[in-house]
Amino acid sequence: MSQAYKSYSTWSSSVRWFHWINVLSVISLIFVGLLMLYKKELGITSLDAKIGLKELHAVIGYVFATNLFIRLVFAFIGPASARFSAFLPGKRFMQELNSYRASLKAGKPQQFIGHNPLGKLAVTALFSLLIILAFSGLIRAGTDIYYPPFGSAVASYVAAEGTDPASLIPYQKEGVNSDKMASLKAFKSLFGKLHLYSAYLLMFLIIVHLAAVVRAEVKEGDSLVSSMFSGKKMLNEKPQDE
Ligand code: HEM
Repeated sequence: MSQAYKSYSTWSSSVRWFHWINVLSVISLIFVGLLMLYKKELGITSLDAKIGLKELHAVIGYVFATNLFIRLVFAFIGPASARFSAFLPGKRFMQELNSYRASLKAGKPQQFIGHNPLGKLAVTALFSLLIILAFSGLIRAGTDIYYPPFGSAVASYVAAEGTDPASLIPYQKEGVNSDKMASLKAFKSLFGKLHLYSAYLLMFLIIVHLAAVVRAEVKEGDSLVSSMFSGKKMLNEKPQDE
């Protein structure tokens, strides 16, 4: 039953801050990541520039990973709209999804204060990828440029006898035990591939996410985009999750 538009409180400020810091940091990480991938084509050949790009990417990565970590803490102890239960598909999920899809087919989309069932799937997939990217990125920052939190453990492992691990310089062989460095190759490559393919998948999911948000805004008229700024949704149907 349609009703007059009513305002509902939706995303808490912690969710909205996370979302926009995440958008900015992910865009910057993708931008610098693509520069790293296509450095040769772009004429970036010096070792210093190559290391500089990795350092820049890692510094933005810390902002991204810290923001994600805080968001995950809020998923345990934050307000209802920030909790895992607000987005992880629960027990009755298949029923909710079928009922939502039927409402779309009938041209009378159900409205939600929080995520619609497809949104829950998207957010779960996005969070999983972000966690994989943060973890694999932190590992690569340690193995490639001896950056925290794993860099000092990597440096201690590869440092030749009598060398201070803190004196090692990325991509320089001096003071490095070459056998130990070689033994890290498979480990580095595994996390490098995981990081790269997760980044590709994330880029694809971001496009799907944007298309779905625009579709929901246009077809369902639930002020989804502005709600991520204001924390309020204007709905003219009784929400399914009230
Ligand atoms: C949404 C998050 C992220 C995205 C989309 C992303 C994207 C990328 C891309 C496209 C590359 C190039 C891959 C290559 O050269 O093979 C890359 C490399 C790298 N990333 Fe990330 N990254 C993210 C998060 C992070 C984080 C949190 C860190 C660590 C603080 C990090 C550290 C690194 C490092 C050290 C490399 C170089 C690895 C290599 O040369 O193989 N990344 N990232």
